[in-house]
Amino acid sequence: MASFHFLLVFFSLVSLALAKTSPRPILQVTKDAKTLQYITQISQRTPLVPVKLTLDLGGPYMWVNCERGYTSTTYTPALCGSSPCRLLNTTSCTTGTSCQPPVPDCFNNTCGHGPDNPIANTGTSGQLGADIFKIQSSNGKNVQPALTVPRLYFICGNNFINDGLAAGVTGMAGLGRTGASLPAQLSSYFRFDHKFALCLSSSTKSSGAVFFGDGPYTLLPNVDASSSLTYTPLIINPVTESGFLGDASPKYFIGVKSIKVNDKRVTAFNQSLLSIDEEGKGGTSISTAQPYSVLETTIYKALVAAFVKAMPKNVEKVANVAPFGACFSSKNIGSTRLGPAVPFIELELESKNVWRINGANSMVEAKKDVLCLGFVEARTDFAPTIPVVIGGHQIEDNLLQFDVSASRLGFSSSLLGRSTTCANFNFTSTV
Ligand SMILES: *[C@@H]1O[C@H](CO)[C@@H](O)[C@H](O)[C@H]1NC(C)=O
Ligand SMILES: *[C@@H]1O[C@H](CO)[C@@H](O)[C@H](O)[C@H]1NC(C)=O
Ligand SMILES: *[C@@H]1O[C@H](CO)[C@@H](O)[C@H](O)[C@H]1NC(C)=O
Ligand SMILES: *[C@@H]1O[C@H](CO)[C@@H](O)[C@H](O)[C@H]1NC(C)=O
Repeated sequence: MASFHFLLVFFSLVSLALAKTSPRPILQVTKDAKTLQYITQISQRTPLVPVKLTLDLGGPYMWVNCERGYTSTTYTPALCGSSPCRLLNTTSCTTGTSCQPPVPDCFNNTCGHGPDNPIANTGTSGQLGADIFKIQSSNGKNVQPALTVPRLYFICGNNFINDGLAAGVTGMAGLGRTGASLPAQLSSYFRFDHKFALCLSSSTKSSGAVFFGDGPYTLLPNVDASSSLTYTPLIINPVTESGFLGDASPKYFIGVKSIKVNDKRVTAFNQSLLSIDEEGKGGTSISTAQPYSVLETTIYKALVAAFVKAMPKNVEKVANVAPFGACFSSKNIGSTRLGPAVPFIELELESKNVWRINGANSMVEAKKDVLCLGFVEARTDFAPTIPVVIGGHQIEDNLLQFDVSASRLGFSSSLLGRSTTCANFNFTSTV
């Protein structure tokens, strides 16, 4: 009996060790200096070609421009009613197409969906299909040989929705909360828990990463960013904004209960904007399609007023630099390990935990000697919008683990406090 227990313990330790070190997909992510989009690259098709994609955290699936030279001998359309079509919850079905021979996006009896480009705010319709997909991998610490998925499903986009994406990009890598997103397909193919971690670099010269599956997520010098995460529930918004009735939003929402500046609650806006109502309006989501957090007008004005008020009197307020609404001379602003020494902004979360935004994540050097509060006001010319969208600048150099299996978000807080950054994964390959 004792030896049986010993064996059991032994084998569970072995499988734990294997699980920890077995290669898992990873994406190398670079911030494009011109567009501030987060760009990654995978390979696809037969013969394999590299495909550059803009990261879309809340995107429901990967889409690729099929109109710009998509040729492959291994493309397979998703037949109407097949299980891949059910992953998209779509009943749309194209019949009677006249392309002879059929080409991607022009097959008969094939289901389709979207796709959207949340950067240019455009959408179109495209067909679902699968092709060979190759992605970098790591053991959480070092690069391992690339992994291949024989059939990874994606939607065909076209030149129209490709507009507005960074140079060389021909699609978007959707990481959203659906059964068809990259994390969902990769975790089901490689059989690991449906979770992934986003670690975006603030620099346009060095890369951050998306780690699929569990940690370790080791950053030089040997900091495992998965080791001390704080958690808050991921909330399902039952209504998608793009209006596919009945579909839940593919975006990741968290419960922000209040916003504070230097420990003082910002009250000058209707707090019920922070909750999601029955129509799916309200709440807080996280987006990589927005370079800066975007706030509904009344929340934006209240935050800017509170921030300006909390700024020490010897810091001079200067002319605004668009798109920002609160800019300061950096002359009397000190610098700390966590960025410029400015009032800190805190999001009080549903879990009672607090997400603190320090100077490195709140301020943007908009021009020489001018630091601006890096939040922007939501455009009001198209509705509906989410009142609080936490954007790229606020999540850079923070590791965010989206654990869909457990429906929770783990966040590291600024890694600068642990003397590392999201640019410190060792992408140097010897394989
Ligand atoms: C297209 O598919 C429909 C439904 O499966 C079928 O009736 C039709 O004959 C097909 N057309 C062609 C050109 O294959
Ligand atoms: C990075 O990884 C490569 C190979 O995987 C290794 O040779 C190199 O020593 C690593 N660099 C550091 C700084 O650990
Ligand atoms: C799929 O659509 C149906 C109704 O159209 C809805 O009840 C269901 O919740 C949807 N599923 C997802 C995952 O959005
Ligand atoms: C706050 O917003 C909610 C929902 O939008 C609305 O029902 C309520 O009347 C508003 N309260 C105030 C004081 O404006």
